[in-house]
Amino acid sequence: MPHRKELKQEAAVRAAALVESGMRVGLGTGSTAKYAILELGRRLREGELTDIVGVPTSDASDTLARAQGIEIVELGTLELDLAIDGADEIDPNLDLIKGLGGALTREKLVELRAKRLVIIADDAKLVTRLGEKAALPIEVVRFGFESTLARLADLGARGTLREQGGQAYVTDNGNYIFDARFGDALPDAATLAERLKLTPGVVEHGLFLGMATQAFVASSEGVREIPA
Ligand code: 5RP
Repeated sequence: MPHRKELKQEAAVRAAALVESGMRVGLGTGSTAKYAILELGRRLREGELTDIVGVPTSDASDTLARAQGIEIVELGTLELDLAIDGADEIDPNLDLIKGLGGALTREKLVELRAKRLVIIADDAKLVTRLGEKAALPIEVVRFGFESTLARLADLGARGTLREQGGQAYVTDNGNYIFDARFGDALPDAATLAERLKLTPGVVEHGLFLGMATQAFVASSEGVREIPA
């Protein structure tokens, strides 16, 4: 039985194989996306790929990609050929919850500019309905965050301000993250996404709806491509 780490790697290698020389690639964040960046580095070193540029979705992915010899460029108004990233939940329509790694805002900004968003994951991330397993990460500005959390509570959110090492977790953008639960699953993800966008103090939320074009999901039976 393969270990979760190997499953993540298998899915990542499949997605990295879609990258061709000359492409502009969005580089995701997290333990699965890390394997895609490593694989792109390997392909560059071994001469399978040339002239790709990457737009990272976090400081961590930026550092890793540079160390792998991937040329990094700023997002600006670039259109990307492809973005590869992990997810915390994947529903049957390829709608996602993302942001457990804290990079949701940059991920959304980068991945909205990609012609194709390819999601890589192990099968533990598959759900019937979003919110079944994972909390929904919501990035909020630090100023007056208590009042923002009160507004989120009015929308039905229950949860916790993310902490790391006994301190409030701070994103690469200098903001906090509230990990929200809305009962057993999200009532209506599209309506919730709209309401969150209209909530003052909310920078971004981890609902990625209608964005993913493809997923590679690895299990002990191999890697499944969705859609098949
Ligand atoms: C980071 C993310 C990650 O893609 C998501 O948390 C999955 O991470 P991992 O591959 O480590 O399970 O959204 O903000």
